[in-house]
Amino acid sequence: AKITFITSDEQRITLEGFSGSVMALAVENGIKGIDGDCGGVCSCATCHVHVAPEDISKTGEASEIEADMLELDDDTDQYSRLSCQLQISEELDGLVLRVAK
Ligand code: FES
Repeated sequence: AKITFITSDEQRITLEGFSGSVMALAVENGIKGIDGDCGGVCSCATCHVHVAPEDISKTGEASEIEADMLELDDDTDQYSRLSCQLQISEELDGLVLRVAK
């Protein structure tokens, strides 16, 4: 699936991934602002992204455990997800994500 990241300095970077989490894809490719400090276990929020509103049907909304972690982050809105909780599949093709502040 092709996934586009928009970084805080307004760069648009499109990556192609086939499996694993969106966080891992971003970290492997050095996407600025996605650190994945906890290794993908939903306990750091350094992988926070905003899903483009028109793409929220592809990803769904945050799960309860994600939402609890996101609550601690100022930049959270209804389109917030932790990218370590997004598994890459063809269903995500064309997804646009804005990296959270
Ligand atoms: Fe830590 Fe996603 S990598 S919550």
